[in-house]
Order: sequence, then structure tokens, then C-alpha cells
Amino acid sequence: MNGAPLPAGPGPRTGRVFTAPAGRAPVLAGVGGHVPPTVVTNADLVARLDTSDDWIRTRTGIATRHVVTPGTATSDLAVEAGLQALKSSHDSQVDAVVLATTTPDHPCPATAPAVAARLGLGGVPAFDVAAVCAGFLYALATGAGHIATGLADRVLVIAADAFTTIVDPDDRGTAVIFADGAGAVVLRAGTAGEPGALGSLVLGSDGELSDLITVPAGGSRQRASGLAPRPGEEYFRMAGRATYRHAVERMTAASLHALADAGWRPGDVDRFAAHQANARILAAVSERLGIGPARQLSNIEHVGNTGGASIPLLLDQSAADGSLKAGDRLLLTAFGGGLSWGAATLTWPELQPGPGPRPTSRTT
Ligand code: UT7
Repeated sequence: MNGAPLPAGPGPRTGRVFTAPAGRAPVLAGVGGHVPPTVVTNADLVARLDTSDDWIRTRTGIATRHVVTPGTATSDLAVEAGLQALKSSHDSQVDAVVLATTTPDHPCPATAPAVAARLGLGGVPAFDVAAVCAGFLYALATGAGHIATGLADRVLVIAADAFTTIVDPDDRGTAVIFADGAGAVVLRAGTAGEPGALGSLVLGSDGELSDLITVPAGGSRQRASGLAPRPGEEYFRMAGRATYRHAVERMTAASLHALADAGWRPGDVDRFAAHQANARILAAVSERLGIGPARQLSNIEHVGNTGGASIPLLLDQSAADGSLKAGDRLLLTAFGGGLSWGAATLTWPELQPGPGPRPTSRTT
């Protein structure tokens, strides 16, 4: 894809816009999602943490979330979501698999090759992308780049996270928010402007703030220190309040940047699908953009914050329940550790969502 200069207006720290060549645009051809069947309610968390149902609902908007149980790994979620997306696009083969995840099955190797093999796609390039909760948009850009440059005609883009495997179960600041799930899309080569064609795509990062969201131990930095990890350093840590502020600012700025690049005003957006970080973050971003609650897609109440999986899971569920329709002009935005963020525009195509079961609030 061609790197275009930043448009005037939103500011230099928003990120970088990627533009596909007009003759060969990445087009959304399928969507899928999956959550593990086990549901954890706020009452379940109240039973073991110093928190309350009222605090969790009012501060995060979450009532229930789906979690993996021992024996289920990220690849299991990714395979289910990938299968749904392939069924949705009526594809049995693609040219590449890109998997966004913060919870790979192992530190080495990447999880994507195993997912590709289990989907019967063995032999194609398959690799992981790490951008935490912005992972789906980064993987989407990577898949889109493969198509725009002719490296691939069809790409399966999956985002899957089993965040509950790295969250400290005793940390009420993260344990009440994060949950598990996977979402996927198929991208195909098409032409700019057709329904499903990616419009604007903005990505950015700020590594000066990498400490806000981190898993301290397990990587080369901790080994290089020569010191043994201290208790709890294998867990995911988040400075909640600071992260909250940056999430609102970065998703708003990236969205405005993508809108400006697409030539859309906020009033042109029919549906807004933001990373389901926290209902109050979503409300603040929507308000700043001037996109009212009626145009906001949301499933955080029943799935929580599923990390990178959040956006494709939301798209799959919204397409299945009819809240996202063919022809809707859609704005996507995400923010996560790194810091990393992004935003994208597209017009939702005529799609048959995968036939799989959708998130539920029932306790199994
Ligand atoms: O996914 C992408 C990256 N992540 C995000 O975007 C998430 C960003 N952050 C958040 O969503 C919010 O900051 C949290 C949900 C993590 C926390 O909500 P908050 O409204 O920012 O709370 P806070 O951290 O400012 O804490 C307010 C109070 C504190 O008590 P004091 O010091 O005022 O007495 C906390 O100790 O709430 C307390 N608190 C809790 N109380 C009950 C923090 N967590 C809980 C809890 N239950 N689970």
C-alpha cells in the first residue's frame, strides 16, 4: 500500500494513513466470531474480589463475559472464528493467514501456522501480529497490504485473545474487564469504492508510554536483567486511569483522521464500531465525535473487553442480529498497549455471517 502524507487537521501524533491503489483494493468478503461457552457473571466476581455488581456495571458497562476453561487455548478460539469467516465468504482456501493476538499458545512459535493447518490451509504464509487491543486493525492493514501489493488475492485475518489466561485473577482493576473471544474476516482483491472495500486506514503508536500496559516478565528484557521475575510479573498490568484517558484521546483523534482522509463527516457515519474497552470510553469517544448512541454498535455488556478480538466479534454479532446492514457506512477504531491505535472506514457489504453460535448472557 502507498504511504500517503498526513492530511492537515488532526495532528501529527494521530498516525499514518494507508491508501490502497484504486485498481486493487482489499474488500471484506466474510466475517466470523466465536466466544467460549463458559460465562462469568459480575456476581461470580463479587464472590471472590473486593468489588460490586453496581461498580462493574456503572464503571465499565459489563454484566457478563465469556472465558476459556483449562484445555482451551487462543488457537482453539481462532480456529472457530476463522471457520465461521471462511463459511461466510464461501472460501475453502486463502493465500495467507494473519493472526492478531496478545496471548499466543506459546512464546514460540507463532500461533497462526497451527491455526492455518487446523483450518486445512496448510502451506500458506501464516504469522502473528502483536498490537494488543489494536491488533485487529493492525492485522487488517497487514492483510490489506498483502492484497494491495499482489502478494495475495485472499487473506484470512483473525484476532483472538484469551486474556483471562494472563490477567491476575486477584487484580480487580483488570479481572472485571478482560475476557476471551475471537473474530475474523476474509479479505479479497477488489476495486476501490465497491461495498466492503477498505476506505481510509489510520495506524499509530507511542512507545514512550509502553509501561501503561505490560506483562513485565517472560520476554528478553526480564531475562536480560539477569534477575528472576518477582511474584506476579507474569501477569498483565494496566494503569487503568491513564490508559482510559489515552484511549479516549487516541481513538477520537484516529477516527477524525480516518474520516478526514475518507472525506466523510461524523454525520455520514451510519454505524460506529469501536474497540469494546469500557462503555464509558465508548460514550466519551462517541460524544467527542458527535456520533450519537443510536449509531454505536456495542456488545460489551455481554462479552466484556476481548482485546484484539473485540471489533471483528462485534461486527460478526451485529451483522447476525441485523444491527449492521449492507450499505451502512462504518467507522472502526481501536486502542491498546504499545501504545497502539487505529481507525478505518468502509461501507458494509452484502454478507452472510458465519452460522456459528453467538455471545450469550446465559450462564452455562
Ligand atoms: O483495552 C484497551 C486498554 N484498556 C482500556 O482502555 C481500559 C481503560 N481503563 C478503564 O477502563 C478504567 O480505568 C477501569 C475500569 C480499569 C477503572 O475504572 P476507573 O473509573 O478509571 O477507576 P479508577 O481506576 O479511577 O479507580 C476509582 C476507584 C479507586 O478507589 P479509590 O482510590 O477512589 O478509593 C479504585 O481502587 O475505584 C476503585 N476500583 C474498584 N472498586 C470496585 C478499581 N477497580 C475496582 C473494582 N471494584 N473492580
